[in-house]
Amino acid sequence: MCGIIGYIGNKKALPIILDGLRRMEYRGYDSAGIAVLERESVFSQKSVGQIGRLQEKLHDADTHGGTIGIGHTRWATHGGVTVENAHPHTDCTGAIWVVHNGIIENERELKDELQSLGHVFRSETDTETLPHLIEEMEKKYPEENLAGHVRRALLRIKGTYGIAVIHASHPDMLIAARNFSPLLLGIGTGEYFIASDASAILAYTDRVIYLDDGELAILTPNTREITNLQNVPSKKDTHTIEWSLEDAGKKEYPHFMLKEIFEEPAAIENSIRGRIIADTGQAKFGGLSEHGKVMQETKRILIVACGTAYFAGRVGEYLIEEYAGIPVEVDIASEFRYRKPVFRQGDVCLVISQSGETADTLAALREAKAKGIPVIGIVNVVGSTIARETDAGIYQHIGPEMGVASTKAFTSQVAILALLTVLLGRSREMSFDTGRRMLQEIEKIPEHMRHTLLQSTHIRHIAKKYQPYRNFLFLGRKYQMPVACEGALKLKEISYVHAEGYGAGELKHGSIAMIDKDFPSICIVLRDSMREKMISNIQEIKARNGPIIAIATEGDSEVASIADDVIFIPETLEALSPMISAVPLQLFAYHFGVLAGCDVDKPRNLAKSVTVE
Ligand code: F6R
Repeated sequence: MCGIIGYIGNKKALPIILDGLRRMEYRGYDSAGIAVLERESVFSQKSVGQIGRLQEKLHDADTHGGTIGIGHTRWATHGGVTVENAHPHTDCTGAIWVVHNGIIENERELKDELQSLGHVFRSETDTETLPHLIEEMEKKYPEENLAGHVRRALLRIKGTYGIAVIHASHPDMLIAARNFSPLLLGIGTGEYFIASDASAILAYTDRVIYLDDGELAILTPNTREITNLQNVPSKKDTHTIEWSLEDAGKKEYPHFMLKEIFEEPAAIENSIRGRIIADTGQAKFGGLSEHGKVMQETKRILIVACGTAYFAGRVGEYLIEEYAGIPVEVDIASEFRYRKPVFRQGDVCLVISQSGETADTLAALREAKAKGIPVIGIVNVVGSTIARETDAGIYQHIGPEMGVASTKAFTSQVAILALLTVLLGRSREMSFDTGRRMLQEIEKIPEHMRHTLLQSTHIRHIAKKYQPYRNFLFLGRKYQMPVACEGALKLKEISYVHAEGYGAGELKHGSIAMIDKDFPSICIVLRDSMREKMISNIQEIKARNGPIIAIATEGDSEVASIADDVIFIPETLEALSPMISAVPLQLFAYHFGVLAGCDVDKPRNLAKSVTVE
């Protein structure tokens, strides 16, 4: 949700800011803007639409020599998508410029107060209160410096923020601060960068400092000072980003989404590497350290996540309950944090998040910790807030996921949950043979995925045939139920057609009423414990003239004969099959969206990394 960037150093700021915004565009792409300090005045430009539109307006970027600047790519929260509402925002004098990611919750009351003091607002955003507040602090406390004014302004704010601030009268200073919205500081030689996300600055440096909530960074080209809002200095460690710039690029693929689907076999290999002990039929996770024991002794696991990560958690529920015999509850993070969950001695909370920045998941994590429950994370982005705040964690090691629609993160999360199931199961009733068998089958998953990916062209043909349809049901049972829901989520988010995911057993309890010749169902019907029941459900749909696309096990001619179209996938253990069956659904959604002319990497109204509630 929104990406912010700031630069202070010895190079022209504008090209660096524009490059960073382009790389962070997946965080929000309603509008964008920049502000650059130029000899005691500020040059600013904004545009609605994607960064390309802003770049067109800045065709003379080279003429702007300022070496300090800020930029923003927006996912609208307060106020429509207009140039006026695009960031950066400024005060009445046009000297103070701010970019902001987050939400100022007491905006109304602050705005009333500032307007009564004579401040004139030009936008409908909550953010604009900030430059005016800083201006007010400047008037009230002329003896203090810019950092003091920003601190005082932030102490008045309720809500979340990652901000960067420049001031026309302080041409050697960039200020950044964070509360509940991600922000990191990149360290160059004679230069510093501020960004919501490492991908924005990887071209220039891989050395970063992660700011924590309530921290403020005061930067000049050669110095940095990090304090809290009470001006107490914070001691910070420097980290090195693991990803390369190439990892964060599209390579030869037309879209990030397709690249990331094709990266899934390698992603699984990276997620399981070094975590399998074949001799003992056991799994291990270095990141769990002493919490491995807490995990093994747990009496109940509460899995909390959002969106795709939630559906991975649902697969985890089936896996852990069936193979480790531990009760599992899976919750949507935004519900968990508000519904007053009942915690018990022996509970462990497992949060799952690709970005490690999802606001609801983070809030749920904090709620569980506040109640004294150990929290373990499955996270992809190293150094992200969730990764840092959990008691222990398991990294996914799948490289950056840039496509807004999550793909490789889902299958990797399921792979990790399967290994975790072996770890938990083996310290309980799971036999050596079962543990070893599961691990052997997990190791074969990447090969099965490669085989499945060969069907991309066949899936494209099916997606083409079904283009005229505007409604789809995705159906599965048991392990395939969450996969069906994930398949529906993929289709609706990137092609804007109506899709619903269901446990096929629920069909008769209402949704079968919608079935007719114009309402196709995508049914996951594998050679597993649910096959006969799924075939009955397919027959029920056919009896009502509903078209059927089946995801079936290779060689299942009976399913092929009853479905209108079929996509075959290789056979594996039922409990591991979600990692394979998800792939054709991701490809179907991808091809459907592309054929429909949608921007699949940047679907409308969405943004990667949902850092607001
Ligand atoms: C859907 C999608 C979202 C995310 C959700 C959680 O394709 O990407 O539903 O899965 O916003 O994000 P993370 O995993 O970053 O917490």
